[in-house]
Order: sequence, then structure tokens, then C-alpha cells
Amino acid sequence: MDNPTEQVHLPIEQIDAGQPDLFATGKYYAVFERLRKEDPIHYIDSDDLGAYWSVTKYQDVAEIDGLYEIYSADYKHGGAAFYDSSPETNLVPGKSMIMLDPPEHSTYRAMVAPAFAPPKIQNLESEVRARVAAILDKVPVGEEFNWCEIVADELPMQMLSTLFDIPQEDRGKFLQWSNLLISQDEPEFFDPASAQQNFENFTDYCFFLWNKRVESGPGEDLVSMLVYNDKEKLSPDDYIGTMILLVTGGNDTTRSTIAGSIVGLNKFPNQYQLLRDDRSKIVPAIDEFIRWQTPIHCIRRTALQDTELRGKTIKKGDRVILWYASANYDEEVYDQPYDLVIGRGGPKHLSFGKGLHYCLGSRLAELQLRCLWEALLERFPNIELVGEPVKVRSNIVSGYKKVPVVAKA
Ligand code: HEM
Repeated sequence: MDNPTEQVHLPIEQIDAGQPDLFATGKYYAVFERLRKEDPIHYIDSDDLGAYWSVTKYQDVAEIDGLYEIYSADYKHGGAAFYDSSPETNLVPGKSMIMLDPPEHSTYRAMVAPAFAPPKIQNLESEVRARVAAILDKVPVGEEFNWCEIVADELPMQMLSTLFDIPQEDRGKFLQWSNLLISQDEPEFFDPASAQQNFENFTDYCFFLWNKRVESGPGEDLVSMLVYNDKEKLSPDDYIGTMILLVTGGNDTTRSTIAGSIVGLNKFPNQYQLLRDDRSKIVPAIDEFIRWQTPIHCIRRTALQDTELRGKTIKKGDRVILWYASANYDEEVYDQPYDLVIGRGGPKHLSFGKGLHYCLGSRLAELQLRCLWEALLERFPNIELVGEPVKVRSNIVSGYKKVPVVAKA
């Protein structure tokens, strides 16, 4: 297609909602609105993205997400990511829980689940607060800066460094690797010429951590949980697959919500004022930031049998894309879905998924956002957006590269 961002005007059967440019430009909202209204279970055999179904209504996405007997997330059938593996993009040979069906899924999830249990997350609160305070100390008050660089990219990576028990000085490398691993459609993050070498640097570092834990004995960190788990001996590839999930899952999503919260509140200044006036609104605000931002655009399933959805026949083996980016904006479920409305009510957003793969790190993400916003409202009640935010080109993650702001005390 010459200009994929204009596709909202195309005949419905030509709409190819997975085009990465749609997400970089923000034009996907209009495309999904049309699909929800005219063709909520939509098929396209796209020239460059291949054949896939788009599921766009809240109710359908919520229902299908956990129906693993019919819609598999398993890597053997295609996995949970938009793209099928290909020689150019398939840096990752190993598997992880997000691309497994039961019973293997439960085994892999159980290896690290204790690290995310509510008491463990609660115990992190004082550390999160201290890290937030130190990050906000670096904010150049009254001057323009990129919110992503100074704040949004920092907090999640610092917390992941704690969970992995790696030196904080190494977190910059992890950030780069995380960008490389998840944003393969974003030229600024993914350079095919150096991708393989960077990926090898990542795996070398992960194996270095593994060997260190073998030498030092078990600790309480995530790497120790993988090395010493009593469920299954992880192969080197599956260890790497799991590290990739934890690094990207824990980093990219939280940082884009931190960035998106600033963008959203500046777009809806009455909601910003509501938050300044009443701190009890912080918790519902976080829920709404996560809906409004929807940090993961979609998850993929593969049909294990012929099945019917709203009168359409999905064939065994078909790729089915569940669009959280559409379901969370379904006008049949949410009033004024494009607005940021703190305490809006309605059902829980689908940003963390639904069912057996429900996000393991949701509480950690919410804790970071709550501590950040409590501190921000105290120290910088006005973070003003002073230019256009620049989004990542990706049909998987809804991230920002730049959010230019000025902090006012
Ligand atoms: C706002 C922040 C976050 C969002 C929006 C988010 C979103 C998601 C989504 C959509 C899924 C897939 C759900 C499904 O297939 O039904 C998922 C799974 C997962 N997330 Fe998150 N995530 C966030 C933060 C985190 C954090 C901080 C971690 C910590 C490392 C994390 C770790 C995981 C893991 C391990 C899984 C796989 C669960 C499974 O397959 O059983 N996430 N997340």
C-alpha cells in the first residue's frame, strides 16, 4: 500500500490494521473504530504482513484471550506475537510462559510467580519511593527535557535491575536490549546490521548472570529462581526466552504508561486538575492511564480447530490477532472512550490481558505508577507538554521515543 496511514478510507475488505505506520501516526484509532462498527471480526491476506484475523470488540477479545483449548498461544502453533518467526526477525530461539499453553504454561509461570506475589511487591514500596525521589532530583526544573529519558525509561529499568539483582550501572544496556527485542519495526531501535551482534551481547550477559548464580548459590532474585527452580531444568534457549519476556514485559509497558500518563493529562487538563485537587484519585487514575495508553497493542493466538466468531468461519491454523488497542476503546463498553476520564467505571480494561496469561507484573507496574504520581503531585504539580510526543513505530508496543516537557514546581 502506498500510504498505509490513509487506509481508514479504503473499502473495508482492504483494511490492514496491523501496519506499523498506523501506530506511529496514531491513525489506528479511526481504523479500529471502523472495524468495530462494520466488520468486528475482520480478515485480510496482507501483502507484507500475511494472512490474519483482527478481533476488535471488547467482549470477543476478553472471551478468546484465555480460551486456550481453541485459540492457542503456544509457540508450536505460532506463539503470542504478531509476526510468525522469520529468519530476519527471529532472534529468539527459546520459549517462555507467554507462548505456552497448559500444562507447560503453569510450570513456567510457577518458576517466577513467587517474585510477584502481593507481599513481595509490597516489600518493594520503600525502594520504589526512594528511586522515584532520586529520579525526580535529576529533573531540570523550568527547562525543556525529554520525559522518557529522564523519568519514564528510568524507573522500570531500575526496578528490574533490583529484581534481577544486577548492578544498576548495567541497566542502560538492558534498556537498549529491550528496545532491540521488542521494537523490530522501529528503525531507531532495530538496525538489522547490528541486531545479531547486540542479541549475542544480551545472551552473553544472561549466561554470565546464570554462571554467577551457580557459583554463588541461590539468592532471592529472578535469575536464581530460574537457575534453581524445582519444576524443570531450563535449556539455555528457554532460559534466554524467559529472560527476554521478563526484560521486555517489565520494562517497555510500564515506561510507556509513565510517558502516556503525562500525554493524557495534558490532553485532558480538567482531569489533571482533578488529580491535583484530590489525591484519592491517584489509584483510579492509574487504572485509566493503563486503559488509555494500552501499552501492548495486541496479542496473537492460532486457531486449533475450525470455529465460528460472529458468523465468520475461522479455520484451523488461522492467525487471530486480539487487539487490546481496539477493545479498550469499544464504545459499547466505555462512554467517550477516547477521553481520559479518571474513575470512569465500566469493566476492567484489557491492557493486562485476561485469563491464564494475565500479566504477572501488573501489581509491580501499578506500584511504580502510584509511587511516581504521589511524589510528582507533591514536587512538580505541573509537568507541561511543550511539543508533539513521538511514538514508536510498532504494531506490538504503544511506546514513546520523545515526550518534550517542562516541569514546574
Ligand atoms: C502497565 C504495565 C504492563 C502491561 C500493560 C502489561 C501487559 C501484559 C499483557 C497484555 C500480557 C499478556 C496477557 C495475555 O496474553 O492475556 C502480559 C503478560 C506478562 N507480563 Fe505484563 N504488562 C505490564 C507490566 C509488566 C511487568 C512490570 C512485568 C514484570 C516483569 C510483566 C511481566 C509479564 C509476564 C511475565 C507475562 C506473561 C504471563 C503469562 O504468560 O502467564 N508485565 N503483560
